[in-house]
Amino acid sequence: MSKILTIGANGQIGRLFCEKAMDAELPIRAMVRSDEQRARFEAQGVEAVVGDVEGDFFHAFDGCDQVVFTAGSGGSTGGDKTLLVDLYGAIRAIAESEARGVKHFVMVSALRAEQPLKAVPAMRHYMVAKLLADQRLIESNVAATVLRPGRLTDEVGSGRVRTSAAAGDGFDISRENVASCIREALRQPSRSNRVVDLLDGDTLIRDVFAKS
Ligand SMILES: NC(=O)c1ccc[n+]([C@@H]2O[C@H](COP(=O)([O-])OP(=O)(O)OC[C@H]3O[C@@H](n4cnc5c(N)ncnc54)[C@H](OP(=O)(O)O)[C@@H]3O)[C@@H](O)[C@H]2O)c1
Repeated sequence: MSKILTIGANGQIGRLFCEKAMDAELPIRAMVRSDEQRARFEAQGVEAVVGDVEGDFFHAFDGCDQVVFTAGSGGSTGGDKTLLVDLYGAIRAIAESEARGVKHFVMVSALRAEQPLKAVPAMRHYMVAKLLADQRLIESNVAATVLRPGRLTDEVGSGRVRTSAAAGDGFDISRENVASCIREALRQPSRSNRVVDLLDGDTLIRDVFAKS
């Protein structure tokens, strides 16, 4: 059976997604950065491989027909890592997916990535990285789901989101809701590209992806 490669599986969203994927019996392969992480995933029954988007990771794609990219350099590293992980790591993952005939790629991007100059100055380079990675994916021959969450929280997932910031108050979304959206996007893959803004809201997550 073809697998779903999850790049960034040990991250906060990545771990929540892997739990949900296991519950839904989706055939996932977690890509993590160390043997210790791999052993932890395997102890939970999740197939795992070690790889780093700054280096060698193409072996992780063997037998995979869908890819989730939820890796990120995070706020505690510098702009160099934003370039190498969030931009170039994503671009290399997309190029490898194209070369291998991957059918569907789910990118965890960011709300308003299309307008980097409207972000606060400290976030502009990160938004540029997200924008360019999203554009590369949309222009690829792989069907794309670009999820663009607002500010991430650690609240328990409500199972309900909105897809327009203007349709409600605030810019937050729980990581668990994002993880549920990834699962649902994989369960209801689209052959065409879709870009979905994500904030906590009132619409059942399965309905968001059934319509798109
Ligand atoms: N923070 C926000 O408000 C916000 C808003 C919108 C979108 N996002 C995006 O949401 C995504 C995930 O968020 P999160 O909270 O789950 O982040 P996270 O907990 O920081 O997880 C990021 C994951 O990426 C992995 N990673 C880092 N460098 C890597 C590399 N070179 N190769 C492979 N994997 C690498 C990390 O590995 P280790 O576990 O080994 O460190 C970690 O597992 C990120 O892309 C972020 O940009 C964030």
